Amino acid sequence: MFNSPILESTSPVYQNYKTTQLELIPKPINLTKKLDGTYGAGQDDVLVKIHYASFNPIDILLKGIVSPWVNYLRGNFGLCNDYSGVVVDIGDKAAEKLGLRIGDEVCGQTSQTAYTNTLTEYVMFEGSHYPKGWGMLKKPENLTMAEAGSFGMVYSTAVLLKKTAVFNESTKVLVNGASTSVGKYLISLLKLDPRATEVVAICSGRSAPLIKELGAHKIIDYTQTNSIVNEVLDECKDRLFDVYFDCRGNDKLLYHVTFFLKEDGVYASCGGGKKLDLANASLMGMFTFPFLKKVLLSAVGLLKIKIVYCVVKPGLGYEDVKEYFESGKIKPHIDTVFSFDDYQKAYEYLVEGKNNGKIVVEIVKS
Ligand SMILES: NC(=O)c1ccc[n+]([C@@H]2O[C@H](COP(=O)([O-])OP(=O)(O)OC[C@H]3O[C@@H](n4cnc5c(N)ncnc54)[C@H](OP(=O)(O)O)[C@@H]3O)[C@@H](O)[C@H]2O)c1
Repeated sequence: MFNSPILESTSPVYQNYKTTQLELIPKPINLTKKLDGTYGAGQDDVLVKIHYASFNPIDILLKGIVSPWVNYLRGNFGLCNDYSGVVVDIGDKAAEKLGLRIGDEVCGQTSQTAYTNTLTEYVMFEGSHYPKGWGMLKKPENLTMAEAGSFGMVYSTAVLLKKTAVFNESTKVLVNGASTSVGKYLISLLKLDPRATEVVAICSGRSAPLIKELGAHKIIDYTQTNSIVNEVLDECKDRLFDVYFDCRGNDKLLYHVTFFLKEDGVYASCGGGKKLDLANASLMGMFTFPFLKKVLLSAVGLLKIKIVYCVVKPGLGYEDVKEYFESGKIKPHIDTVFSFDDYQKAYEYLVEGKNNGKIVVEIVKS
């Protein structure tokens, strides 16, 4: 496979928590010696040449915890978890387990627990971290490599949110942040579920036509109201909501949740308690005291509603991805594709928070 035990790869990393300036550093990969004297992936591992990676807000949130100590203990944090690429080597055990072989086009997500980021030329997906640390599947045939590199984390988050809720025959659902990448997949998944009979989506006017097309029955435009709470309460005159999904964080809705959610209703959030302020974002800042208090009270049964904070599991829901994407039931949404050389611009665009769809980085032109 390779003639050297080390495979060169480079990766932009955070310099420290104070600056958005990234630094390109070598991130060499140690290869395993094979019986024929060449080097490649270990028995349980998959070596992928990355073609596209995409950003998530977590790429900003993690910057806040970067310090020389963290870098020393954990290894420098790189960026991006979503990817598409081509398998350049795979161990026999991994090939059997995953049904993959050299040359396959693959895509998916890594997580921080696997110590692996995807904004780099090569990634060794180590079997010891599977399945908690990464998800991988063959690229759906109708997707471009850029599209395939864009959905990994947000798709699984949407699946997880939906799984957290309880659906009855006729379920009335409120989705805040419907036009986030998570929200778009969630709205699409709800459309595929006949039990979600009434879906009210909160998004801006610019996103409203798309969100309606994806399946929302009604839109509340958060840019055109003085009180999002009143708008939501107006929707509850005849019937309260059964489920509230928050894909963005909204402290006002959090405060009033028991007024618009029925008893036993479910409030599932992936965004924390308040709207993410990307320029000043921090991991801990998402978990406001009122949010944590409600989650804890709900966990010990002291609230009449169930409140859950969802943390994505890599690969969750991938069993349906091929069918959903190839049939066109679910579509990827990309805002911009940057070249690898422009990784700094791509990161700053993420921090600006003006994207409507995924920010993707092209590492190898497909
Ligand atoms: N817990 C987990 O495991 C997990 C995993 C993935 C993501 N997340 C979290 O999920 C959230 C969404 O992530 P994402 O990548 O899907 O986001 P994203 O695609 O970057 O979201 C961008 C969209 O947010 C919308 N938006 C901006 N301000 C808003 C507001 N005040 N109210 C409602 N919508 C607003 C904008 O649409 P319009 O202004 O046009 O409506 C924009 O298109 C983030 O907080 C992220 O940290 C959590």
